[in-house]
Amino acid sequence: MREVRTFCWRFRRRILAAVAICSIAYFAISVNMTKHSPADSDVQGLNVDSFPRGGGAGDEAGAGGMDGEAGDQRKDSSRKIHRIPLPEEGMKGQKSQKVGEQGRSNSDAVSDNHQQSETSKPSKKFPQAIIIGVKKGGTRALLDFISLHPNVVVAKKEVHFFDRYFENGLDWYREQMPLSAPGQITIEKTPSYFITRIAPEAISQIDKKMKLIVVVRDPVDRALSDFAQSIATGRRTEGQFDGLAVPDPKTGVVNGSWYPLDIGMYDVHLDRWLQHFPMPQFHFINGNDLIKHPARQLVKLQQFLNIDVIINEDYFVFNKTKGFYCMKQMGTGADEVKCLGHNKGREHPRVSPSVLQSLRKFFKPHNKRLYSMIGENFHWDDSEDQTKSRRRR
Ligand code: A3P
Repeated sequence: MREVRTFCWRFRRRILAAVAICSIAYFAISVNMTKHSPADSDVQGLNVDSFPRGGGAGDEAGAGGMDGEAGDQRKDSSRKIHRIPLPEEGMKGQKSQKVGEQGRSNSDAVSDNHQQSETSKPSKKFPQAIIIGVKKGGTRALLDFISLHPNVVVAKKEVHFFDRYFENGLDWYREQMPLSAPGQITIEKTPSYFITRIAPEAISQIDKKMKLIVVVRDPVDRALSDFAQSIATGRRTEGQFDGLAVPDPKTGVVNGSWYPLDIGMYDVHLDRWLQHFPMPQFHFINGNDLIKHPARQLVKLQQFLNIDVIINEDYFVFNKTKGFYCMKQMGTGADEVKCLGHNKGREHPRVSPSVLQSLRKFFKPHNKRLYSMIGENFHWDDSEDQTKSRRRR
């Protein structure tokens, strides 16, 4: 064990990517050594050929700083890395190092993570639910709202484990989580997971039962929001939305590979997730509705999480200056209201009607397919809804 550890440490300093293999291999070895069970020694390979780095979700500081753009992810996703061996159930594995010493199985460890014993003290646990997307969908609002629930604790910053810090290992991942008391659910949100190639498989290997929450917003609104963010954060200094979305106005052909538009093909990204998780483990939230009716969406989310429905209309108050609902700080004794930061609710760029029409036409079949996949219609292509959405600005 000592040699393996020394070797790993030396390797870590040389090549960052190799650390991922090394630390996880070390971890897998320790699991097997502590368990002595042929079934448990069965490790599965996780192909991370397209493991992206540095791409990010939004303008929120993640665990390691400001987020990048999905464009970075695509660039990096072509990078060849290696085949990373993960234990049969990775998340269990971290805990099973300890659990193994107690002569218990990996499945005991994961079920500990899900159902804590009433006697256990507050501790950091792996999430049982992740808000996996989408960037600019309303993910911060959702996380902040659900954090009002007494049975929920959330990782405040975006963690970016599955798209950026995977090589830091599972202990690191758990360390990013807040302390949770018995009966509390831990939730993290990293919107870039939704478009990260490796994320579905990596998460499923860690916990096949993970609850996956996706806030999807009208892809045209989302793209405009994304673009507005790039300008506001200084990541983009050139180019107009119109010209980037539809490079040749004569043809009206949409550049679907431009990252703000690529993200909006939700059905295409969802295809990848469905190879690893069944549909009942997903909860889709209409981001446009979350803006207008947060309580309605929060009730559905609490039902999905199987927790008492506590957050309702009483928790929200519309703030005219902000133009959004804000949260009442219930039980504090003070009439305190907390709104999201100034980076949420930005002015969107103006788009010509012809580009808007091309975008609508482009996304319509994708939206339709998404609705049929999730069994719910979000009505983004209903003209009345679109007008309302535009009038908001
Ligand atoms: P805009 O800035 O385009 O309006 P994310 O948190 O995923 O980055 O999403 C940001 C979007 O959340 C904002 O996009 C905003 O429309 C939306 N949102 C939803 N509910 C909100 C709320 N109560 N307060 C502020 N923004 C909210």
